[in-house]
Amino acid sequence: MLLHIPNILNAEQLAHCRARLAAAGWADGRITAGHQSAKAKDNAQLPENDPVAIELGKLVLDALGRNSTFFSAALPRRIYPPLFNRYAGGQSFGFHVDNAVRYDRSRGGSEPVRTDLSATLFLNSPEDYDGGELVIEDTFGTQSVKLAAGDMVLYPGTSLHRVTPVTRGERVASFFWIQSLLREDAQRRLMFEMDVALRVLTRDVPDHPSLVQLTGVYHNLLRRWSDI
Ligand code: NI
Repeated sequence: MLLHIPNILNAEQLAHCRARLAAAGWADGRITAGHQSAKAKDNAQLPENDPVAIELGKLVLDALGRNSTFFSAALPRRIYPPLFNRYAGGQSFGFHVDNAVRYDRSRGGSEPVRTDLSATLFLNSPEDYDGGELVIEDTFGTQSVKLAAGDMVLYPGTSLHRVTPVTRGERVASFFWIQSLLREDAQRRLMFEMDVALRVLTRDVPDHPSLVQLTGVYHNLLRRWSDI
């Protein structure tokens, strides 16, 4: 499932992020690339232990914590602390698959995170740059994603993906990975669709007796499938 979640960050938060990132200490993006993807990767990235990355990463995590669509779609078990990247001057990232498991050693985290889901949160406006599309290939075909500032795309970590060259301006984004309670994309999709339908029914027919039963089915499926 590929999901566009709008308005993760508001205008004030975006302005704050952009100001902090403009003055930050960018490094070569290959610092977090695996052996294979290092060959394809050409961008700038904040080191994981950079104070700006840590500060803004917390801001992003707080915003995700308040977003019920994110919670329902990802069913997060662990979230790898958000990272930040920048593409400009023709930089790109060729087709690759993200590492399956990531260790947040630099920030003192010892737990591995299985990258069930990948997320990209766009921090500046698509009018600010040419190119920079996130192209994702999966069972749903090829999708080209370029979102408004503050919007996020969530997609399976198993997907092949790339970022096309940024030929004008710069593209600034946050990216991170999520280990879900549900390992399989198909299961996450079913649970998300059921949750969306339950919310509509709760709004439209709040007193219908079957709602309690259906909500029970949702939770009992989650109990049966969840990987904790
Ligand atoms: Ni990637």
